Amino acid sequence: MTSPIRTERHDEILVIISDNQPVNALSAAVRQGLEAAIKEGVADASVEAMVIRCDGRTFFAGADITEFTKPPVDPLLPTLVDMIEASDKPVLAAIHGTALGGGCEVALASHYRIAVPSAKLGTPEVKLGLLPGAGGTQRLPRIAGVKLALELTAKGDQIPAKKAHEAGLVDRLAGEDSLEADAIAFAREIKAARPIPRASEKVAAADPDAVAAFKKDNARRFRGFEAPLANIACVEKATDGSSYAEGSAFERQEFMKLMMGVQSAAQRHIFFAERQASKIDDVPADTQLREIKRVGVIGAGTMGGGISMNFLSAGIPVTIVEMQQEALDRGTGTVRKNYEATAAKGRMKPEQVEAAMGALTPTLNFDDLAECDLIIEAVYENMDVKKEIFTRLDKIAKPGAILASNTSYLDIDEIAAVTSRPGDVVGMHFFSPANVMKLLEVVRGAKTAPDVLATVMALAKRIKKVAVVAGVTYGFIGNRMLMPRQVEATKLLLEGATPEQIDRVHVAFGMPMGPFQMSDLAGVDIGWHRDPSRIENIRDALAAENRWGQKTKAGFYDYDEKRTPSNSPRVAEIIEDFRAKSGVTPREIPDEEIVARTLYTMVNEGALILEEGKAQRASDVDVVWIYGYGWPVYRGGPMFWAQSEGLPKVVEGLEKYGFTPAKSLKDAAASGGRIK
Ligand code: 3HC
Repeated sequence: MTSPIRTERHDEILVIISDNQPVNALSAAVRQGLEAAIKEGVADASVEAMVIRCDGRTFFAGADITEFTKPPVDPLLPTLVDMIEASDKPVLAAIHGTALGGGCEVALASHYRIAVPSAKLGTPEVKLGLLPGAGGTQRLPRIAGVKLALELTAKGDQIPAKKAHEAGLVDRLAGEDSLEADAIAFAREIKAARPIPRASEKVAAADPDAVAAFKKDNARRFRGFEAPLANIACVEKATDGSSYAEGSAFERQEFMKLMMGVQSAAQRHIFFAERQASKIDDVPADTQLREIKRVGVIGAGTMGGGISMNFLSAGIPVTIVEMQQEALDRGTGTVRKNYEATAAKGRMKPEQVEAAMGALTPTLNFDDLAECDLIIEAVYENMDVKKEIFTRLDKIAKPGAILASNTSYLDIDEIAAVTSRPGDVVGMHFFSPANVMKLLEVVRGAKTAPDVLATVMALAKRIKKVAVVAGVTYGFIGNRMLMPRQVEATKLLLEGATPEQIDRVHVAFGMPMGPFQMSDLAGVDIGWHRDPSRIENIRDALAAENRWGQKTKAGFYDYDEKRTPSNSPRVAEIIEDFRAKSGVTPREIPDEEIVARTLYTMVNEGALILEEGKAQRASDVDVVWIYGYGWPVYRGGPMFWAQSEGLPKVVEGLEKYGFTPAKSLKDAAASGGRIK
């Protein structure tokens, strides 16, 4: 097998080049090649300095994550980077693309770093539930100080080369197109400079205030996660007077702990699951895509406006249609307000706001959609209304235009059937707020054409969404799984639990909020029959009293002016009344029962969805819950979590509370296999 590493001589400079596509991950072959090349450079008396660079789109993007579950192969990355640093001839890292994780650590161990202005550096291991385990936590604070080391390691932020240059992390910026030549010239300048600057020999000043402030500022973000704290502890170790060797031994120990833990396994699972989700089993990757130059959006409400922003932000012009001028003005006004709020936070330039708004064409004329390549209907959930819209669209849309519905529950096939082109019809289920939430459920109808599906999946990537293919089923993947949770949560209230108890169990699990906090945010009146005299469950009773959630300052909780929730005595009464009316004597509900009835039932529904072929793979279900509903990523999504919880335990829990476990779940539990 040929090595991914080759060397080229430029007189006294040895250039070591990696070519391991697509991202130059530091696989065993790459590490072995680098080790051999460095040894060659050190041994050859005519070599005076070495440059390490990569072919293709990026400098090393990290350790090869696929190797993490395999037996280790020498040289291990920490050994290799120490060997690079120990070289008695200067080594220079020449960076383009993204120097991430182990790649960044190769750069930190090199004696000098030169980067093109478009390059980025970072140690995103924390996003995989890990820490930079090849000296990164020890060298970063020594080179760039505690503050930046914390941002990079514990948050996993990437920084642009220019900022890295200012912070002393990069010694020199190269020309965008002349990296190799500039690196060789730099190597010639420093080839004789002594002492050779070695990061491990530097001393990093402790900064306890910065550490305390960092922990406080990020407490919410880090809640439940193990890796950020381990990263912080390692950075602190680099500054507490310990030697480099002691610090790196500590780093190694912490790295191995995280690596063996379930959180990192979950986060690595999601890394690959997210990438896998974009692949459609029976649609070839090279399917010819349809060109999308202009998008039409029907409905300028919260959803329509949010959906439009995704395309505008990606530079794709949008025609947005409403029935009334007032609604149109309100909708476009909200889009502008949202952009201006982003600009006020410094995350957008004023000219970018104007460019996005300039690409938005508001209109009352439905026929203006004729020029759009993709038209997304985002009106309220009513089959008759949607059918009427698609009948009209069929008449005016140009041939080949993709016709999408943003329905969250309804049957795409029934909608497609009113058109003469069901192959062009697809579901695009955005999650609210649509300009923020990463998930897009792409609903594949019975007749949706493969190229329509492939085009929408590719477009999702362009607008920075994580797209998952779902089949036609009520509520698709996410909302269908939400249903048993909501039903059981409400039943538990009747039987004796309180909203606070159920929400507490969910928040402790890692959810951003519990089912009742979510109801209050979304609106208790959603889906309500609007007849105050008809009270069939606790939700009806709340809705009948105008307790519609945060918007009416009362729902399952009471809210003050600042929307701070407090437990509601009135809700306790309503629940009591309803229990009395239903003849239910309340009982103590153990937390474990809440978990089984509101979370195991979701897993069960996920298994049924998979059995019915409405999701392609278990990991897709996980991606839906991570990106659409805030399921804690360190638990890897419901299907991964069930697996780590133990499928026999899940099956047992379901049966204990009277549910019928899905066949696939039972089979996998019995055989010790996985849900696929
Ligand atoms: N190891 C193995 N495979 C990797 C990989 C890695 N570190 N990084 C990316 N890949 C694979 C992806 O799975 C994908 O495979 P596929 O085509 O079969 O689906 C392919 O490379 C291309 O990746 P993307 O689709 O993500 O390409 P993008 O251009 O969108 O993004 C990237 C490129 C920014 C480099 C992104 O892939 C990324 O963030 N990679 C992970 C970086 C990372 O986490 N590095 C740290 C690794 S852990 C480590 O280094 C431990 C050390 O400290 C000891």
